[in-house]
Amino acid sequence: MKIDLTGQTVLITGAAGGLGQAMAATFSEHGASLILSDLAMGKITEADQTFATTCDVTDAASVRAMIAAGVDRFGPIDIAVNNAGISGPHGKLTELSADDWSRLLAVNLTGLFNSLQAEIPAMRDHGRILNIASLAGISGAPGLAAYAATKHGVVGLTRSLAHELKRQKIRVNALCPSFTDTPMLDAMGLEKSRLHSPLNALGRFGTAQEMADAALWITSPANSFMTGQAITLDGGISAL
Ligand SMILES: NC(=O)c1ccc[n+]([C@@H]2O[C@H](COP(=O)([O-])OP(=O)(O)OC[C@H]3O[C@@H](n4cnc5c(N)ncnc54)[C@H](O)[C@@H]3O)[C@@H](O)[C@H]2O)c1
Repeated sequence: MKIDLTGQTVLITGAAGGLGQAMAATFSEHGASLILSDLAMGKITEADQTFATTCDVTDAASVRAMIAAGVDRFGPIDIAVNNAGISGPHGKLTELSADDWSRLLAVNLTGLFNSLQAEIPAMRDHGRILNIASLAGISGAPGLAAYAATKHGVVGLTRSLAHELKRQKIRVNALCPSFTDTPMLDAMGLEKSRLHSPLNALGRFGTAQEMADAALWITSPANSFMTGQAITLDGGISAL
């Protein structure tokens, strides 16, 4: 199966993070032009086929400006990967501060809302949207209850939009990784060894590259009949 995205424009939010960087490199290797954004640029650099800019997804005006500038450079969006997200502190819901709750909603849900509102009118017909949810978007996550609530919201938006966007024939799916070795795991402040689930048939974390390869295939023209789905990459955890 050859995936050639030459001439196609791919937008990725949260592009400086673990999954974001892997997805940017993977889409670029397959010929796409990239609109990359993040709160801070980190290792993202401008290149011939890459437009990169800072953007806080919680700020609707900033998202609109980022997308307008990117579309000005490369033309309408073919693939939008809504990836920016935070996990919040690990702990019981009763111990979560109201500020942490609000921040999780602002980034993971309002940030997605802002991105979708700005990108959908800027997309070509037959475009593809991939929302990065989580295994916590389809099952409970004790210690990360607020995060799970936001990711269930991401899946709800995904399923609804798959039907709302049928006139434009835009496919909308969600990717639901389990623990994946990126800076997000470090930010949770937990011993990584404690995160291994006995239900994980493969006995290891996912890698950012595995998620990027899945993102490429899910959004590719080779996967033309899938929409409204929440696809788990979780080493088999959800199989039990
Ligand atoms: N790593 C995991 O175990 C895991 C598992 C399931 C789902 N996910 C999801 O994958 C996505 C990517 O996570 P990651 O593992 O690469 O984490 P990461 O922390 O490496 O990357 C997340 C990126 O999002 C950016 N970001 C945060 N707030 C933002 C904002 N307000 N505006 C713009 N950008 C913002 C960060 O700067 C960072 O670069 C997230 O949505 C996360 O919830 C991750």
